[in-house]
Amino acid sequence: MIISREFGKTSAGETVWEYTLTNASGNSVSILNFGCTIRSIKVFGVDVCLGYDSMAEYERNDGYLGAVAGRCANRIGEGRFCLNNKVYQLDCNDDDNHLHGGLCGFSHRVWEAEIQADTLSLHRFSPDGEEKYPGGLDVTVTYRLSEDNGLSIAYHALAHEDTILNLTNHAYFNLNGSGTVLGHLLKINADEITECDAHCLTTGRLLAVDDTPFDFRQEKPIGRDIEDTHYQIRNGCGYDNNFVLRPGNTAAQLTGDVTGISMTVCTDQPGIQIYSANFLTERPGKNGARYDRRCALCLETQNFPNAIAYPHFPSPILRAGQCFDSVTIYRFYNH
Ligand code: GAL
Repeated sequence: MIISREFGKTSAGETVWEYTLTNASGNSVSILNFGCTIRSIKVFGVDVCLGYDSMAEYERNDGYLGAVAGRCANRIGEGRFCLNNKVYQLDCNDDDNHLHGGLCGFSHRVWEAEIQADTLSLHRFSPDGEEKYPGGLDVTVTYRLSEDNGLSIAYHALAHEDTILNLTNHAYFNLNGSGTVLGHLLKINADEITECDAHCLTTGRLLAVDDTPFDFRQEKPIGRDIEDTHYQIRNGCGYDNNFVLRPGNTAAQLTGDVTGISMTVCTDQPGIQIYSANFLTERPGKNGARYDRRCALCLETQNFPNAIAYPHFPSPILRAGQCFDSVTIYRFYNH
């Protein structure tokens, strides 16, 4: 079942709606048509996803809470890339780099919503030159909550001209419902990470996780090695790295140590950015909550960051007339 209510208005006067998808067991997910933002995920009586109460907070949303990041999620070095022998200069909104689609990316735009049975589809046309990206792009993000508590996010895009693309959802999960995320148990199906420099920008090198704080092949608490002196931990002020996923299996699994609520992440994408909310400064959240750094974990399925700069990374190029299709499923269960 999907019901909708008016959530608020943008500063430009556009009406924003909140859609609540509820399954037969009474678990539910609420989504805004602003930024395709997941505002809440209520499973087994606990709201496991961070969000805000007002449109003003979502228009600011410096932490991208719950939003879809695009046209290119993550960082593009100096906002510059070369496509078809032409250099494009995007706006830089993260020091000298371009982050999550720029000054007003997909996360900060109003999308057209359509409900079909138990699915919610959000569509928008991103015009040629938007945020200085080349080519018009039709994008549709489709959400569905299954009876076995799988929240699927299907991304579909059609390029009108050659362009680059990297889409993700930036939900912050806390499977205890509140408090720090450091006691959560995390497992990641990855043997390597993409190395980053001091500005969290990929260098093009891959690092084996063996004997590093990044070895989550066996489940361990997020907090165990988060203060390690490893240069990759220092560069991100905690976990803020793209893990290179082994294909075919569950990408990651997270368990709240207090509630015992677990979540698996399945994706067809090659990478997952694990971000322990190191830059989320202290602030009010929805329903009187207080958020602070490391009070949640983002598991952002995506292509490798800044893939356009490195020919040995999976290509982020979408050619004219081609479609991009990808699915990520976050599934919740209780022990
Ligand atoms: C993450 C990124 C972080 C930070 C955050 C937004 O995806 O990895 O470095 O920029 O988004 O605050």
